[in-house]
Amino acid sequence: MQLIAGNWKMHGRLASVAAIDALVAAGPVPGARLLVCPPATLVARFAEAARGSHVEIGGQDCHAEPEGAFTGDISAPMLADAGATHVILGHSERRAGHGETDAMVRAKAAAAHAAGLIPIICVGETLAERDAGATLEVVGRQLAGSLPAGGPLVVAYEPVWAIGTGRTPTPQQVAEVHAFLAARVPAGTPVLYGGSVKPDNAAWLLALPHVGGALVGGASLTPRDFLAIASAVPAARDAA
Ligand code: 13P
Repeated sequence: MQLIAGNWKMHGRLASVAAIDALVAAGPVPGARLLVCPPATLVARFAEAARGSHVEIGGQDCHAEPEGAFTGDISAPMLADAGATHVILGHSERRAGHGETDAMVRAKAAAAHAAGLIPIICVGETLAERDAGATLEVVGRQLAGSLPAGGPLVVAYEPVWAIGTGRTPTPQQVAEVHAFLAARVPAGTPVLYGGSVKPDNAAWLLALPHVGGALVGGASLTPRDFLAIASAVPAARDAA
């Protein structure tokens, strides 16, 4: 099974539950697990719409504490209570825009585990870091600093320069980083690729060694595109 996860970022209103209804109505995709991570305002509504189906719902961030005087924050137990099964942590947009450090991501991941959530820990280099030949050093440092002790988890490799740009690394570049990460995560941990995953590039990305699925931004907002990406999982293509 590969995990096809949608990161809706700061998009979606209550009426967007129609997207979950569409994914549920389409039925399971062979070889693919579907996860949608909407903004916090929609987690409970989406989880209700997905209940009992093959579609799972996740959050996009959580605080390291279960509750307290943290205005504007959402805790892992709150996400679990709303019906989430996963939470994205350490996305580059939070590392860059909210000053999140590896230590903070690790503390959040431990909080996710304590709440019964599976953390999806994101790592990835900037273009300047890639151009400087520092990609493996950067993602290795992020991974080592962000991984919690024990517990189920998912890792996502998202080159910052490939997010929302329509640019993707070459197959060799993706394969190199995924092999590097796969050797440094607990056995059985899926390593997702993220960054401009679209229906027209999903097949080759998902067929690369050590790619265990995709973390999809923009294309996850449209059920047709999200399902087309899931249908590009090698097992789904074999079943078609
Ligand atoms: P895009 O698919 O829009 O490039 O976003 C990728 C991403 O950041 C997913 O977390």
